[in-house]
Amino acid sequence: MTDTPAGFRRHLRAPLEEPVIVVTGATGNIGRRLVDRLLEEGVAVRALTRDPARAALPDRAEVVRADLAEDTDLAPLLAGADALFLNLAAGGAESAQRLIDAAVRANVPRIVLNSSQGVSDTPADETNFISRMHATVERAVRASGVEWTFLRGGNYATNALGWAPAIRATGVVRDAHPDAQGAPVHEADLADVAAVALLDRTGAHVHRIHRLTGPEVLTNAQQVAAIAEVVGRPVRIERISEEEAAEAMAGPHFPLAAARELVGLFGSTVDAPAFPVTDTVERVTGRPARTFAQWARDHAADFS
Ligand SMILES: NC(=O)c1ccc[n+]([C@@H]2O[C@H](COP(=O)([O-])OP(=O)(O)OC[C@H]3O[C@@H](n4cnc5c(N)ncnc54)[C@H](OP(=O)(O)O)[C@@H]3O)[C@@H](O)[C@H]2O)c1
Repeated sequence: MTDTPAGFRRHLRAPLEEPVIVVTGATGNIGRRLVDRLLEEGVAVRALTRDPARAALPDRAEVVRADLAEDTDLAPLLAGADALFLNLAAGGAESAQRLIDAAVRANVPRIVLNSSQGVSDTPADETNFISRMHATVERAVRASGVEWTFLRGGNYATNALGWAPAIRATGVVRDAHPDAQGAPVHEADLADVAAVALLDRTGAHVHRIHRLTGPEVLTNAQQVAAIAEVVGRPVRIERISEEEAAEAMAGPHFPLAAARELVGLFGSTVDAPAFPVTDTVERVTGRPARTFAQWARDHAADFS
């Protein structure tokens, strides 16, 4: 193994040999799209999930059981792999560190890390839970010596799925900051960019940071309106306190303190979005980033 861009090309021992890509979080929002995309590209996909029986992944994928939070040797999961898609949603930062170590031991030449635009490469990275977590894992990937690409996504469109139960049940979304602004990025665009970086044979994406957003800035209220349009019935947005919003957001894997930080961050985007719109999706994939209206159409069933 080598950590030079050419290493990946050399690692593909014969020109016709099929690369093997390991996907963590394979049943998740990005992972499922990524597995499909990679299979379309004709590569071998090893899709990790805690429960293959429930995963409903394509037959052509090699579906492998892995609970990344368990204290087991992760290197066998990576045997013979040409690249790893590492998503912190699959087990968190500690599991990510163990996977990175395992990737080094298994001679995996490349990691594409699903990171976050919360990482700014400034001391501000230590100021909140999300930035700190992603910055820590980015540092671990850099230190590993493995080729890397960081996908720093801004606000995911899938965050709007958090409104789905309320939209289905009452048609009322309760939100602390209806005027908060963001440029929601579609999970299919994140997956498409990941696929390009994972399969890149030229080295163009090696040691590159891709900042990914959707194509337009929308307020939360405008996103709710776009969903209402798709489901064909009115949806009202009702303002609640930051504390109520944080309590609703917190859960077993997301501490209340972190939820408070996040709700506060949303509040700071009322005047301007936290992350400017980028054209990275189009530059990397050759196709414009999908709009939120498209995302809402793709997810109509979730809200109906
Ligand atoms: N939301 C945002 O605005 C935002 C912005 C920037 C970055 N991000 C990053 O993006 C991530 C979310 O990506 P996503 O939406 O694709 O995730 P997701 O849909 O929540 O997918 C998580 C997947 O991880 C798997 N998983 C969970 N625990 C696991 C474990 N212990 N071992 C193995 N697999 C496990 C689950 O699959 P199984 O149940 O099949 O095991 C699940 O399908 C966040 O965690 C964050 O790091 C988010």
